[in-house]
Amino acid sequence: MAAAASTGTDGGAPRLSPVLVTGGAGYVGCVLVPKLLEAGYAVVVYDLMLFGAEGVPVHPNLRVVRGDIRDTERFAAAVAGAHSVIHLACISNDPSYELDPALSKTINYDCFEPLVAACKAAGVRRFMYASSSSVYGVSDAPEVTEDCPLRPLTDYSRYKGLCEQVLLRYQSPTFTTVILRPATVCGYSPRMRFDLTVNILTNHAVTRRLITVFGGAQQRASLHIEDMAEVYLRCLALPDTLVAGGIFNVGRENHPVARLAELVRAIVEREMPGEPIGIRTSPTDDLRSYHICSRRIAERLGYAPTRSVQDAVSDLCAAFRAGKLPNSLTDERYVNVKTVQAMTPRLLLEAVR
Ligand SMILES: NC(=O)c1ccc[n+]([C@@H]2O[C@H](COP(=O)([O-])OP(=O)(O)OC[C@H]3O[C@@H](n4cnc5c(N)ncnc54)[C@H](O)[C@@H]3O)[C@@H](O)[C@H]2O)c1
Repeated sequence: MAAAASTGTDGGAPRLSPVLVTGGAGYVGCVLVPKLLEAGYAVVVYDLMLFGAEGVPVHPNLRVVRGDIRDTERFAAAVAGAHSVIHLACISNDPSYELDPALSKTINYDCFEPLVAACKAAGVRRFMYASSSSVYGVSDAPEVTEDCPLRPLTDYSRYKGLCEQVLLRYQSPTFTTVILRPATVCGYSPRMRFDLTVNILTNHAVTRRLITVFGGAQQRASLHIEDMAEVYLRCLALPDTLVAGGIFNVGRENHPVARLAELVRAIVEREMPGEPIGIRTSPTDDLRSYHICSRRIAERLGYAPTRSVQDAVSDLCAAFRAGKLPNSLTDERYVNVKTVQAMTPRLLLEAVR
């Protein structure tokens, strides 16, 4: 953590007008940031480092700022000179959000408009927001498009949708807004999460040789993490005319959770042979179920994810074999709700000061 966190202060201002990534030390950020650097962008990561910063690379064109998105003054200083912002930071799932809903709202909603306004005032040209396909809640529509009504089942999802509305008000010829509604992401990241469907199933298949499926009939849309990162790169590079004010679903495959468990079992049994892997089913109260349609992003932006759920499982198996995922059942940093719970709300509030 120390090495990565000191990169910015040691590295000084990036040479080029940078892309600022809030939440850049998170699961998605740790795959996205190296791709941005590789593509030649200078990058600023602005993150509270709730899960550490070990996954953040060290690079001469990367500045790392440990900061809270609720600290608008500090954020405004960090964003000065940036041409684009990718906003990933938040309390990023339902269970962590529900630990302290009032506190979570300060991070996921209350600070959003001040943050967007600070970006616009700083001359940022493009703002990309990580919403979520969970804004659809439950839908039995055969294809849930961006025009379908939002029926969020939880506050986490509700505020994702409400932030979208705030952001759309700021769209202008000099401030291009882009909203992505990604499916559940899967696959390996240097900052790993084992609280996402395919990742949980894989962890259990590898380490316990037993997959527990909660429910099973719920439809889950999945997206490989490398594809997730590529979407942001693609949206950065495309002209304003194609993306301005756009809302895009991003997913590749929709499967019931029970089917995902079978896919995971088949790959893990092939790539990490051992005891046969069992599948057990338990009831669930997580009712999210929707079959998202990602035709708009394909037709308007020419983007279609290329990697499968099986690829993500296979990548995770490779990471397990390489020893990159130690203590995967017990290390609390892999599970957002456990880490956020361990940080008392007081600690989170103090971080603003
Ligand atoms: N992972 C998925 O399956 C998925 C799917 C759809 C949408 N999304 C969205 O994508 C984004 C990234 O998700 P992720 O999986 O990388 O989440 P993550 O929890 O791994 O990362 C979130 C990052 O935000 C930081 N953060 C939290 N509160 C902060 C604050 N107050 N100030 C500054 N930084 C703060 C954390 O330290 C962390 O590094 C989130 O907005 C999430 O809602 C994720």
